[in-house]
Amino acid sequence: MSDTRETRGELVGDGCGQQHYISLVSEIISQQTAEAGRLPGVYIMTFGCQQNEADSERLAGVAEAMGYVMVDRPEEASLIIANTCAVREHAEQKALSHIGRLKHIKKENPAAVIVACGCMTAQEHRQNELKQRYPYVDIVLGSSGWQRLPELLYRRLSGERRLFCLDDGGAVPENLPVRREFSYKAWLPVMYGCDNYCSYCIVPYVRGREQSRRPEDILAEARELVGNGCRDITLLGQNVNSYGRDLGTGYDFAQLISDISAIEGDFRLRFMTSHPKDATRRLVDALAKSDKAARHFHLPLQSGSDKILKAMNRRYNRANYLDTVAYIRERMPDIALTSDIIVGFPGETDEDFEDTLDIIRRVRFDMIFSFVFSPRRGTPAADMDNQVPGEVKTQRYLALVELQNAISEEINKRFQGSVVRVLCDGPSKTDKSMYGGRTSGNKIVYYPGEQADIGNFVNVKVERTEAFALYGTKTGEPAADNR
Ligand code: SAH
Ligand code: SF4
Ligand code: F3S
Repeated sequence: MSDTRETRGELVGDGCGQQHYISLVSEIISQQTAEAGRLPGVYIMTFGCQQNEADSERLAGVAEAMGYVMVDRPEEASLIIANTCAVREHAEQKALSHIGRLKHIKKENPAAVIVACGCMTAQEHRQNELKQRYPYVDIVLGSSGWQRLPELLYRRLSGERRLFCLDDGGAVPENLPVRREFSYKAWLPVMYGCDNYCSYCIVPYVRGREQSRRPEDILAEARELVGNGCRDITLLGQNVNSYGRDLGTGYDFAQLISDISAIEGDFRLRFMTSHPKDATRRLVDALAKSDKAARHFHLPLQSGSDKILKAMNRRYNRANYLDTVAYIRERMPDIALTSDIIVGFPGETDEDFEDTLDIIRRVRFDMIFSFVFSPRRGTPAADMDNQVPGEVKTQRYLALVELQNAISEEINKRFQGSVVRVLCDGPSKTDKSMYGGRTSGNKIVYYPGEQADIGNFVNVKVERTEAFALYGTKTGEPAADNR
């Protein structure tokens, strides 16, 4: 790995000098454009969570500033970027298989530059693997790849050999361009990294320590979004509740919610993700007071067993969790609650799993995202010796999904006949006459819609409900909840 270390050494402290490289690459690109008679394309594939989607919007912004145009197929691109995820084995295999398919593209078009970045390639062993087994990949960066693309691309286009570069934990630059996928809804990163080290999780290793953006930068971005007609803003961070701690000014996430809520306009404010140990009453109060905060709270539980929660290093227990839920519901009775659950964590017995089912029956979440524990190299849980056999994990996963589906179905039945306010996303993939959108509580709603609805609020009268969606028709009647 001498290459990686050398490259990393050179880059330390560079975070913000990218504007210079954007200009240098633009010069090369305009020369190429003049020769080829057309603008070069950039194709970006994104794996993983909303954070990666937000980073990809920044990669796209930077690529556009350098003179590339977005294209829909890698075959048409001169620059191909794979923004990868490492949260579970499946995510890594998926990214690797997509990167594998780029081999023939490089063969057809040897001048195309292939970049792999994101959480998977923030790991030294994956960088080595790409170096040895994927010789057609030109540049490999970590999760801060979007911040350094211009420099590395310039070096590669100027004839340097393949570049491998691990993250250096430097300050996140503020002034890089963004190309947002939608105008009416937006990701707004408020912080990067995670300090929590849940024992199963790779994120702190691949995304580094928590770094909060300055409130004034976030507020300026939020104001600009709302001014441009954005109707749904999701604040992003691995644990938004610890927002601001590293700034040392006392400004916290609850204050940020209040300040963004004070921006004038018809928009919804969301956030992802909130760690139960830090979900304070102060935050819940700020949400309850806000007329912008969507009535949805995603509060990942992971397990209902105190023993497993301890082994996961989650730093809350069943009782704390249930207290938090009770307070959220006391202040916002109409709120939709969702959660993440991992089954098959090392040492999870039938009784531990029963505790998880029990808490799910008590809380009655609107929806949960269930995951089978996936050992991640370098995390403490991967080396625990009491791993749960594959078939037990599968059985528990199925039992969990069955229980939750029944609960989601029952909860959604309550919407039958009511009018909900939906932010329309556009036609459904399977039936183009049905348009889909989301309620304040993040429920998916389908109705016969039209092009003009996209990006606007529409009232829909619910006629039929299922576990994962509500169905209805547009109505002039007011919604029960005007959020
Ligand atoms: N920061 C967020 C989410 C991070 S990853 C949080 O703390 O909630 C999203 C979800 O993936 C986690 O909530 C967890 O349920 C799941 N997850 C993370 N690591 C995993 C692993 N090794 N195996 C299975 N699921 C995992
Ligand atoms: Fe992973 Fe835990 Fe951080 Fe979430 S809070 S990203 S689960 S370490
Ligand atoms: Fe995946 Fe990285 Fe997100 S590991 S889930 S893309 S933070």
